[in-house]
Amino acid sequence: MSNMVEPLPGTGDIWAPDVEEWVRLENAARACFSKYGYDELRTPVFERTDVFVRGIGDQTEVVQKEMYTFEDRGGRSLTLRPEGTAGVMRAIANAGLAPGEEKRVFYGGPMFRGERPAAGRRRQFHQLGVEAVGTCNPRVDAECIAMLMDYLKTAGIENAKLMLNSRGQAEDRVAVNDAMRDYFKPHADAMCEDCQRRLTTNVWRILDCKNPACQNIVAGAPPIVDLLGEESRSFFEETCRCLDVLGIPYERDPRLVRGLDYYAHTVFEVVGEGLGAQNALAGGGRYRIELPGVKKPVEGVGFALGMERLLMALKAQGREPAPRGVDVFVVAQTEEALLPAMVLAQELRDTELRVLAAQEKRSMKAQMRAANKLGAKTVLILGERELAEGTVMVKDMACSEQSTVPRDEVVAQVKVHSTPNATR
Ligand code: HAM
Repeated sequence: MSNMVEPLPGTGDIWAPDVEEWVRLENAARACFSKYGYDELRTPVFERTDVFVRGIGDQTEVVQKEMYTFEDRGGRSLTLRPEGTAGVMRAIANAGLAPGEEKRVFYGGPMFRGERPAAGRRRQFHQLGVEAVGTCNPRVDAECIAMLMDYLKTAGIENAKLMLNSRGQAEDRVAVNDAMRDYFKPHADAMCEDCQRRLTTNVWRILDCKNPACQNIVAGAPPIVDLLGEESRSFFEETCRCLDVLGIPYERDPRLVRGLDYYAHTVFEVVGEGLGAQNALAGGGRYRIELPGVKKPVEGVGFALGMERLLMALKAQGREPAPRGVDVFVVAQTEEALLPAMVLAQELRDTELRVLAAQEKRSMKAQMRAANKLGAKTVLILGERELAEGTVMVKDMACSEQSTVPRDEVVAQVKVHSTPNATR
């Protein structure tokens, strides 16, 4: 029998100090996205299955193979969100959007996809995402991309590469479909079974196939932008021009389509270093999302980035989060000193320091070892003599200097000499 306390494959427990790095990245995102006028939105972790099937597209890998779908007790089909955009659009459609009104939201949290687990590919993963809804023009797309690059820089990511393409709009679909089919048909025998099927069901998905044989064929496919009508081409060129003016480097990837079918116009991905095969740190684009019960599709632009991959990329750059340990450790040399040590620790916590006190009578050596292991910068010692004299022995662990300080002055003195770890 498998180990019952292990998390399920593709899921995991997130421990400190990773959690602290995680919180830093979330707070940096809040600060960054807020500069661009985005507000946080929290949507449910599960929705009616239709929201995703209609929203993401029934021909996508995500909908066909990866959703965690279940029936609730009322017989409704529900799905754990595989991504954030469809649910956010459902929320915006529900709240209502006045003509000409713009909504900018960001969100974060767990997403669920039943993919084969691998490094950087999990079944429960966490995204930070943004969506700007209500205005359809290339400047909004460029600004959204600029915000992503701004964020990745503040997060500490170096050498992220931005890949850019356009999928055009609905009006271009027939021309692109026909040209793609004409190109792929003669290669059908060399393509995987899924792609042979996609030739009739959804030829765009072939461009996204990970099978090496198919990828070789895809490399010779016509660049999508060349197949688009004038309006879509100029939308794309204007997006590129805005990025040029903003000084944001990018690479055109003529066959980038992304795995979700709601995209129209701009699509982009940011690939990072040190991530192996799953090297997409973030992805996004402009979309038109159809929702059950909503007459007009919701249009917007946005992106999502994977927290696990962000952390992996930062670690690959040598940014390994360090355990925080404590600022102060209070040693109790006798049984009688245990409670006074607890009281002293409590007083010190009022100064925002991170403090642990001995909870059991152990040898001085064992307690000093514990203090060292926790990285305590100051050790306070309470023994028989200190209790009798109303003093505390203060030991500076960096220089090993010791001094005896009156009990009623010790908190103020330690506070002056310490930088709280908790706020660093
Ligand atoms: P996505 O490309 O499917 O786009 O996911 C965005 C990011 O989530 C990926 O670049 C990756 O970092 C992370 N990610 C995806 N799947 C996994 C996984 N199985 N394990 C670990 N990380 C993963 C979307 O989800 C769109 N909703 C983005 C968007 C927002 N487009 C417009 N607005």
